[in-house]
Amino acid sequence: MCGIVGYLGNGNAYDVLIKGLHRLEYRGYDSAGIALVAPDGKLNVFKAKGKVENLETICNDKDTDASVGIAHTRWATHGEPSDCNAHPHYSEDGNLALVHNGTIENYKLLKDALEEHGCKFHSETDTEVLVQLIEYIKINNKCSLLEAVREALHQVVGAYAIAVVEKNDPDTIIAARQSSPLVIGIGDDETFLASDASPFVEYTKDAVYLNDGEIAVIKRNEPLKVLNLENRESKIDVKTLEMSISQLEKGGYPSFMLKEIFEQPTTLRECIRGRVVENGKRVIISGVRDHKEKFLNAKRIVIVACGTSWHAALIGKYLIQEMCHIAVEVEYASEFRYSNPVLGKDDIVIALSQSGETADTLAAVKIARSMGAFVFGISNAVGSSIPRETDSGAYIHVGPEIGVASTKAFTGQVMVLTMIAMAIADLRGTLTADEIAGLGKVILEMPELVEHVLKLNDKIERLSLIYTYARNFLYLGRGYNYPVALEGALKLKEISYIHAEGYPAAEMKHGPIALIDAEMPSVIVAPRDHLYEKIVSNVQQVKARGGSIIAIVTEGDSVIRNIADHVLEVPEVPECLSPIITSIPLQLLSYYIAINKGKDVDMPRNLAKSVTVE
Ligand code: G6P
Repeated sequence: MCGIVGYLGNGNAYDVLIKGLHRLEYRGYDSAGIALVAPDGKLNVFKAKGKVENLETICNDKDTDASVGIAHTRWATHGEPSDCNAHPHYSEDGNLALVHNGTIENYKLLKDALEEHGCKFHSETDTEVLVQLIEYIKINNKCSLLEAVREALHQVVGAYAIAVVEKNDPDTIIAARQSSPLVIGIGDDETFLASDASPFVEYTKDAVYLNDGEIAVIKRNEPLKVLNLENRESKIDVKTLEMSISQLEKGGYPSFMLKEIFEQPTTLRECIRGRVVENGKRVIISGVRDHKEKFLNAKRIVIVACGTSWHAALIGKYLIQEMCHIAVEVEYASEFRYSNPVLGKDDIVIALSQSGETADTLAAVKIARSMGAFVFGISNAVGSSIPRETDSGAYIHVGPEIGVASTKAFTGQVMVLTMIAMAIADLRGTLTADEIAGLGKVILEMPELVEHVLKLNDKIERLSLIYTYARNFLYLGRGYNYPVALEGALKLKEISYIHAEGYPAAEMKHGPIALIDAEMPSVIVAPRDHLYEKIVSNVQQVKARGGSIIAIVTEGDSVIRNIADHVLEVPEVPECLSPIITSIPLQLLSYYIAINKGKDVDMPRNLAKSVTVE
């Protein structure tokens, strides 16, 4: 959470930083701020509560001339969203400005000690403690900014990606990372830093991902230097970015969310490319193939994830248990890490995370590895922390997802989990060659099938008008479509702020059925599968209590059509592939309900896309 960006070069720092902040707004939008070192050495700091556009308004009549600066977009942890708690924070004497993504856990201890030495604090944030500490060390040890940062980082406990600038020094930025992402972009005579590469992708494709415990020294007219906290220089490993600028723009859509929903035929094609080959007869997942023994001998698989990724993980459980006959457990990463997990060398832990940066999932990875389990990461963000901290893995390759509510990443994750299950089943002989070929053929058709489902758009837009002012929703599904129901409910909650509960359809009679009346619509995911007859009974139970029903059914369904108030028909696919198809109408339904209510679907209140705090 929180996004940081920095620039040092010959261009206009303000323009680069503001554009960069807009790209990072998915990480939080409680406040934004910028610190610029003017050519005369003055340190200008501007901040505003709310979105980046508020900061721009404030800066309209300010002197923003500078070729070096740092900026921040905040998701509040310590202290309410306000101008005062907005970053950059500066030292008491106004000499240093600092931006920070992460949490300083021992900030109270440090703050008390600094206050005893006469330091005064102006905000409630943990970040202000860090900048004051750096300045205190700098003055007392009469040392350089770099030395003061290094010394201060030895004293802090917690997670951080930081960038610091100093008054009277328009030629230096010091940046550092520990457990929060930070990437440096190296251009011609200019250097960028950011929480991810999106702020600088149009200026350079050369990127250096900082590792934990590293400090970057960015100096004008000097090559980038990276040191560790013991002052030893690290080798600089320059990676080429795959991201393109068009992936970061709305491309004619009114929102990133709608663009990302409609991109799914393309993103699924990218996800499958080179993995399902020979007309579907073979599935190659190199991260599985290269660690054959581990997958052959695995006794248990534990999947850890959060949010939407956790829902995809639940589908993964159904997939792997059905195809590979291996026991699978699915854990919320945040609970897993504090549940005294019991793991060993015969266990495989799959960490599933779109951003690759979710703090709890990353912590689960570290615990699992320390206990000797083989850890496999599934992520979207290339070069992010989870792929770098795991033994093996697979990218979902759906391109940057910017809308805070996850859509294309969910279908990409389910697709990758399907292919992984098939690859493991192939190794272990739990699926026959014919079974693999049959599924492989349909996987290759999935992009077209999804395109077909997207044709429901207009119908769903009209349908959404009927349900916009419902106060509560129930989402029901069974088997593979139970996690789809959970995901549908989450989508609606996230962006429309309507309370929605996802439930396994058969569990409804153990409680939620008491809520059903004419005011409480139920969305029932009921494609024709081996549980179809059973879910028909659940549909009838809802109807018998006067509830209205929107059902997602297989094309040609004639039974539920006669009971439900509205049906949305989707093409028939093998049961294990149905979540990719059935989740799409639910994405569109929540999207249009939120739009009808005038909500900002890309930046829903209180949420952030990359959750880098516990
Ligand atoms: C946040 C996002 C969700 C996401 C979850 C897990 O809550 O808003 O969309 O599913 O984090 O994120 P991850 O990047 O680990 O998949």
